[in-house]
Amino acid sequence: MENFVFHNPTKLIFGKGTIHQIGEELKQAGIGKVLFLYGGGSIKRNGVYEQVVESLKKHNVEWVEVSGVKPNPVLSKVHEAIEVARKEKVEAILGVGGGSVIDSAKTVAGGVLYDGDIWDAFIGKYKIEKALPVFDVLTISATGTEMNGNAVITNEKTKEKYGVSSRALYPRVSIVDPSVQSTLPKEQTVYGAVDAIAHILEYYFDGSSPEITNEIAEGTIRTIMKMVERLLENPDDYEARANLAWSATIALNGTMAVGRRGGEWSCHRIEHSLSALYDIAHGAGLAIVFPAWMKYVYKENPGQFERFAKKVIGFEGEGEDLILKGIESFKGWLKKVGAPVTLKDVGIPEEDIDKIVDNVMLLVEKNLKPKGDSLGKVKVLERDDVREILKLAAK
Ligand code: NZQ
Ligand code: ZN
Repeated sequence: MENFVFHNPTKLIFGKGTIHQIGEELKQAGIGKVLFLYGGGSIKRNGVYEQVVESLKKHNVEWVEVSGVKPNPVLSKVHEAIEVARKEKVEAILGVGGGSVIDSAKTVAGGVLYDGDIWDAFIGKYKIEKALPVFDVLTISATGTEMNGNAVITNEKTKEKYGVSSRALYPRVSIVDPSVQSTLPKEQTVYGAVDAIAHILEYYFDGSSPEITNEIAEGTIRTIMKMVERLLENPDDYEARANLAWSATIALNGTMAVGRRGGEWSCHRIEHSLSALYDIAHGAGLAIVFPAWMKYVYKENPGQFERFAKKVIGFEGEGEDLILKGIESFKGWLKKVGAPVTLKDVGIPEEDIDKIVDNVMLLVEKNLKPKGDSLGKVKVLERDDVREILKLAAK
């Protein structure tokens, strides 16, 4: 087991009927005015907006709104919100929505206190060490952003989608009411779950194998798979929503990183190029890339892939046969719950692979290299490796 520090400063309020607490939390933190950031309007259709506004009014918290954050959130919207936040002299950013909204809220929070273009933070030219406090109400369980210091933004002009990570970006308070997720379209529930599984697997396959973290990871993935199947039957199954929601939070709040080597993250980086170039859902892209990456790298870490086949999928046996059966079964499950599993499934032609590889390698140069990272840990991926993985994902 590797040494580790576990320090997660976010206060997470979880459960049915908890959204009304947001005003009180802001008030207690001494916040009198917030920038209220949200997406394309789902919160107006499912009653979340009213609940938030009522709570803000009740506790005399003023707000100014910026809406229209889109999935795969873009830099121009962040710039727009930073201007409003400065002009209105808000004291905190309140994001109400999914990862796209909350990641934008975090980026705005960092951007308000930086004189240059906050994109600098995404290309290693600026380190975010201060930010306005971020508060949020989460409406889709997927990214774990409600309890981590990460934000992922797309520069739509250059088609670059990069992440940033900072202690200053952990939300001060996050509210997760799983009951409001029953209005999610089926595919969004699935993509969210795939994202959470992918976060766990990025850690699981990073070349480490601490028993306690392995067991928590395997149990959490099995739980997510079960809960997704229940939700496809009945989107209003609260117990399933709640179990899925907490699973997604712990998938990327540090729990799965305990005793490990920092995670692999190759699939995420390759996926970010897919969603940057084709604007597909992040979870959909991961369902395409992950099984292909597994097939390409399992030889570097066979013990852990055998363990995956046994403890997550439930197969018996050993060796390469078992590993390949495990990967195929995982891919089969993704397909069964409605996720795309090939580039073809989302209409990306094989001829585009070189263009995607270029985008991925740009990331290595711009987003990773300034910080000294490589693409991948258990197997460091070069241009040709990325091309081979995408070929495996093609059809
Ligand atoms: O925009 P609205 O109208 O709110 O609709 C959203 C959006 O269309 C809808 N939605 C959300 N809650 C709903 C709902 N519809 C009905 N009922 C509800 N309760 O769902 C759609 C997707 O929302 P989005 O916020 O894009 O989803 P998600 O939470 O999956 O976020 C994805 C983004 O997060 C990034 C991804 O790359 C992607 O850009 N990631 C962020 C990470 C992080 N901060 O730690 C890590 C991840 O690996 C990931 O990269
Ligand atoms: Zn993810």
